[in-house]
Amino acid sequence: MSDGLEDVVAADTVLSDVDGKAGRLIIRGYSLDELAGRASFEEATRLLWDGFFDSLPADLAPALGAARAEVFAEVAALDTGLLDRTPIEAVRALLARLADGDDLATALRLAAAPAVFTAAVVRAQAGEAPVAPDPSLAHAADLLRMLRGRLATPAEAAALDTYLVTVSDHGLNASTFAARVVASTRAGLGSAVLAGISALKGPLHGGAPGPIIEMLDGIGKPSNARAWIEAALARGDRLMGFGHRVYRVRDPRADALKGAVRRMSEGSNIRPGRLAFAEAVEQAALAILRERKPDRALDTNVEFYTALLLEALDFPPSAFTCVFAAGRVSGWIAHAREQLAGGRLIRPQSRYVGPVAKVAA
Ligand code: ACO
Repeated sequence: MSDGLEDVVAADTVLSDVDGKAGRLIIRGYSLDELAGRASFEEATRLLWDGFFDSLPADLAPALGAARAEVFAEVAALDTGLLDRTPIEAVRALLARLADGDDLATALRLAAAPAVFTAAVVRAQAGEAPVAPDPSLAHAADLLRMLRGRLATPAEAAALDTYLVTVSDHGLNASTFAARVVASTRAGLGSAVLAGISALKGPLHGGAPGPIIEMLDGIGKPSNARAWIEAALARGDRLMGFGHRVYRVRDPRADALKGAVRRMSEGSNIRPGRLAFAEAVEQAALAILRERKPDRALDTNVEFYTALLLEALDFPPSAFTCVFAAGRVSGWIAHAREQLAGGRLIRPQSRYVGPVAKVAA
């Protein structure tokens, strides 16, 4: 048996291909370079869903905008109990209120919901009233508007669009596998998305970028990086934003997002010196990981520059995983539909290693 199912192929998919040796991500025949910064989130979602729904509109933007307006009604269910929870738990609870199903209307509501709920939860936790969606805006621009209560600049909206597209699908990662297992029972797309978001929440998967800001703030200046990182590793901590189950080289999404951060920094979004500081921390971390773990190729993953990008767009670190869900939800839904279309119930075996049953004499 392979520990953690490493290298086990558990599904055939037409959706995305992660080449861990070459550091390459292909989404439905397009390399990440061709999509990130070029396609909108709506276009990437349409690409992922193509062939999995009857009568998919050529332009998904109006339908996704209408779905945002529809799910906004659920924001009224945000009570003080939910607001005391972490943003990802509150978003997950609101998602659980949506009706389940397998059709396109359900899929659109599920794809729209993480963006709408994330903005509402962040605002409510800051004591601010939610801002209703504007269905005429693009998804990324509307998410920023719902978050901040003002229109984003084109550069900001483009940066968030790049992020959402970059994380929209990534092979059989833990959350997508969880979503496919649930979809294979025919429980519905909503149930599959809830499984996905629950798996995404963990710090080894989508929960990493919030702690990256804590790491950067804890380090404070480049000259502190080595001592801080060595102390963290000596405690047995993992460095968030580094290492990957599949990539043995640099995660190509890291560079797509670093590019988006750099483009934004040409405006005024990034704190002066923030990108250079993060690069210095990244170099120190990579050097130390190479010294400490020479046998395991540990490189920068998607989460490191996610943290910088979402910070610059005013998302609080506690909500970074929710924004990840707003992008990955398109992939979960596509995989769930692909599983339903061709896959059998996913039901592997376990090997019993417990005590032998006592046989009565
Ligand atoms: N910091 C320090 N050591 C690490 C790190 C890290 N970030 N990543 C792996 N290692 C070490 C492990 O401790 C292990 O050492 P050991 O054999 O002495 O115990 C060795 O490298 C091999 O690691 P694995 O456990 O085999 O790596 P695995 O494939 O199971 O885990 C994972 C991949 C979970 C991403 C891991 O690298 C990690 O914890 N990274 C930090 C969290 C993170 O950034 N998560 C986001 C990943 S990207 C995504 O999911 C969207």
